Amino acid sequence: MEIVRTVEALQNIKKKLEGSVGFVPTMGALHSGHLSLIQRAGDENDHTIVSIFLNPTQFLEGEDLESYPKREEADIKICELSGVDILFMPTVDQMYEEDELRISAPARRGYILEGAKRPGHFDGMLQVVMKLLNLSTATRAYFGKKDAQQLALIIQMARSYFFSCEIIPCDIVRDEQGLALSSRNAYLSEEEKYRALSLSRSLKRATKMVMSGEREVGLLISEMMSVLKEVDRIEYIAICDRDLQKLETVESGNTIILVAAWVGETRLIDNIWI
Ligand code: PAF
Repeated sequence: MEIVRTVEALQNIKKKLEGSVGFVPTMGALHSGHLSLIQRAGDENDHTIVSIFLNPTQFLEGEDLESYPKREEADIKICELSGVDILFMPTVDQMYEEDELRISAPARRGYILEGAKRPGHFDGMLQVVMKLLNLSTATRAYFGKKDAQQLALIIQMARSYFFSCEIIPCDIVRDEQGLALSSRNAYLSEEEKYRALSLSRSLKRATKMVMSGEREVGLLISEMMSVLKEVDRIEYIAICDRDLQKLETVESGNTIILVAAWVGETRLIDNIWI
């Protein structure tokens, strides 16, 4: 595995690669969710590139940029053992210049749900994903469904800007209890981890109701709220179609149920596609 820390070095190595490239962008603190993306990229492509870049522009003031878990040594080992060919770990200076040209998230999809709670977050996320996809010149790029809105916006960006890279949505990976894996789970104490399980439990309850014929969004949301009693604060529960438009009734095969909630000082998101 080659570890590359500059844009120029990555571009030079890329010139020598032949065949398809699978790309997995990350912010580090790798877990089994990332591993599943890396494995899939490896299975479906001739070469795998992973990036680890804690992107400052997608954090709002007062968010956890400084405290975000950093595990460089362990991350390098994980990539090595997973058969990654190139690990790109740039500095902020490599990725950004002064007075940058900016990308803006779309006015509706970018400012609902996560975008409403974290205005500006998706501008920074799209900015860096655009840069990373251009740099990797990947055939396919792999993103988890856990960040459903992020994924929808990246798919839209790829469509709007005519990217040749195919965006591959990948299933959420959960621990044995059902907690969706996230680098931010590292912030949770054992007791908080236990309470955080109510997010996936609420999604499971709603799915079960849908399976037994309930379609009315209002009823599903109030049932989810009753399951979510153990979290400290619910930020939103939303039932949308795949284009993130709010639904009145569930449409099988075109629905995402999303939840965001605080457990202690940690903000968690989860969702289920039905
Ligand atoms: O999902 C993430 O880890 C980040 O938002 C991404 C896509 C790597 C961009 O910084």
